[in-house]
Amino acid sequence: MPVTYWAEEETGYPVELDAASWGYKESGRTSDGVSELTSVVGVGHGFTTVKPLKLFTKLIQLWCPEGGLVLDPFAGSGTTGHAVLQLNHETGATRRFIMIEQGNSEKKDHYAKTLTADRIRRVITGDWASGKQPALGGGFRFIQLKREKIDADAVNALAREEMIDLLLNSYWDKAEKARSYLHRCAVGAHKYLFATNPKNEGFFLIWENSETSSVLNRDALKAIVAEAASATLAERYHVYASIAPYTGAGVEFYKIPDRVLEHIGFNARADAYSNTVDEDA
Ligand SMILES: C[S@@+](CC[C@H](N)C(=O)[O-])C[C@H]1O[C@@H](n2cnc3c(N)ncnc32)[C@H](O)[C@@H]1O
Repeated sequence: MPVTYWAEEETGYPVELDAASWGYKESGRTSDGVSELTSVVGVGHGFTTVKPLKLFTKLIQLWCPEGGLVLDPFAGSGTTGHAVLQLNHETGATRRFIMIEQGNSEKKDHYAKTLTADRIRRVITGDWASGKQPALGGGFRFIQLKREKIDADAVNALAREEMIDLLLNSYWDKAEKARSYLHRCAVGAHKYLFATNPKNEGFFLIWENSETSSVLNRDALKAIVAEAASATLAERYHVYASIAPYTGAGVEFYKIPDRVLEHIGFNARADAYSNTVDEDA
């Protein structure tokens, strides 16, 4: 990774990052972006906020490793994908991209397909509106989100994964960093077990959804012990739950932090089982 993206001309030393700006010769201009897009897809696209390829190829080269993945959640006309494919073609890099585009929902104009994907298809094949160009090669998959009702189980599973992210982060923050490495289990592999530490001890989370209480009771512990045994883990159990009326030998109980519960939309204070002191009451 470069230390800086710009150096002062006179001294040759890097300037402060926040004091640097790129002239149009280095980055291109929006008007360049618009003409680049017009050459590829033809006139009448109506897109005015197109970023120039020069800017995006430079950004990608600076910040993304050669085999890396570039995410652009506001893809617009698809300059990011075009820049990745162009760089791969020119330099032999193997970067990939994910672009997300909603289109203009007010106008019911889902141009992700008619503009963003169309541009990428044309640069891959070289069939530009302005004439044949060298094909950049590569490929992409177009995936459309459906407006189907989202399955409640899927939402809960996602919320659980999000909670695990937060728990792993808070564990990392609190524990001595070098020794706190936890290996995360594959998504959905276990009901309770979500990570293991280098001592082969399991970390378990009791949480199914925001309506069900998260209680470490005798039954839950039995299930956890069985899960640990079938995964041939040590007989020491790190268990996250909201409350632990029952615990046992080898159990290390961690109360799920309120901020983690709140983050996933669960109000710990309104939970009848919660043992937190309600300071506002
Ligand atoms: C300024 S444009 C991006 C221009 C792009 N860099 C280019 O060179 O064409 C921003 C885009 O983000 C899209 N957008 C805004 N909010 C979004 C969201 N929540 N999800 C997906 N796309 C979104 C808009 O529809 C618009 O096309």
